Amino acid sequence: MSEPESHASRVTDLFVGLTGSAPEGVWSAPGRVNLIGEHTDYNDGLCLPIGLPQRTCVAVSPRADRTLRVRSAQQEEVVEVALREVAPGRPAGWAAYVAGVLWALERDGHDVPGLDVTVDSSVPVGAGLSSSAALECAVAAAVSDLAGLDLLGSESGRAELARACIDAENIIAQAPTGGMDQSTAMLCHERTALLLDCRSWETRQVPFDLAAQGYALLVTDTRASHALVDGQYGSRRDQCREAAAALGVTSLRELEPRDLDATLDRLSSDVLRRRVRHVVTEIERVRGAVDALQADDLAGLGRLFDASHNSMRDDYEISCLELDVATETARACGALGARMTGGGFGGSSIALVPLAAADETSAAVTDAFAARGLAAPVSFAVTAGGPACRDH
Ligand code: GLA
Repeated sequence: MSEPESHASRVTDLFVGLTGSAPEGVWSAPGRVNLIGEHTDYNDGLCLPIGLPQRTCVAVSPRADRTLRVRSAQQEEVVEVALREVAPGRPAGWAAYVAGVLWALERDGHDVPGLDVTVDSSVPVGAGLSSSAALECAVAAAVSDLAGLDLLGSESGRAELARACIDAENIIAQAPTGGMDQSTAMLCHERTALLLDCRSWETRQVPFDLAAQGYALLVTDTRASHALVDGQYGSRRDQCREAAAALGVTSLRELEPRDLDATLDRLSSDVLRRRVRHVVTEIERVRGAVDALQADDLAGLGRLFDASHNSMRDDYEISCLELDVATETARACGALGARMTGGGFGGSSIALVPLAAADETSAAVTDAFAARGLAAPVSFAVTAGGPACRDH
């Protein structure tokens, strides 16, 4: 049985255990890694993520009452909540990602039924690979089909579902994230990276097939704890808002890269200067990465990965020992470039490695962690996977 099939069958078994009957259907959505363009989404900037082969599956049936009952293979408890009781912070914990989607779609005027839902996921939780967005988007896909919303068949319908998932996360789960993760899970394509303009929400698919050039994208889940609801992510967001206000622009995207030095001179705070420098240069690096991919220039892409990591480590200050060790070790093993990916403060890194060196690089990263007394990381190569869809 293939990995997706075994997940679909496990989530179906879980559903039968919960309800005593077969689900109406099974839907899934991918986790993501961002190739480049970090902490740019909430600055109206550009980013370049891919969907992962790792997915979150949900088995779902509508209920006759207006209750949501949800059970996950990765969690102990069954959560039950009346739809009218869903509100900011309620329910707490992981079930908010499910309940929040129903709340947002209902708020948008859709007729949303109560649901029984079971969840099973191969997206590592807490690894900065957007397990929460995968769950939201799998649920949104299910509701679209079960409530006859018919939003999966068009880009604009998918974008509408992504917006509902973003609001579920920001308002109900109360994680102040941007829109990259949910947009990726809804709009990514296989073998392409998604160029996402977070000001216009326009997208462009950029061919991304490293294996054809003898390379792999190696993800290392550092196992260093990462949580978006704690204060650091929100504080970066606040600093960007403060800098934009001080510079008289609606978002940092409005700043011209060629005027960067003069712009930075207008800020009195050194911290804000560094935050702005990261965002403005990172948006430029996304443009460079698209050009590099289109020119099959993987060495150029690798240099941009390294510059991006340095900018996040030194200017945005969101790296940590584990992420620095993983990226430095990958480079020492011959990676063309390596960077942390996602929100930071832990989570995962990515490296652009020759296919033949992927295993050796993983082993070297594990050894480097052990030598420093760090918990064992998990490394795996990924390709670009497809978006939220119905599986069965
Ligand atoms: C997290 C957030 C995203 C984005 C990234 C950083 O993954 O969920 O919205 O801000 O961090 O690029």
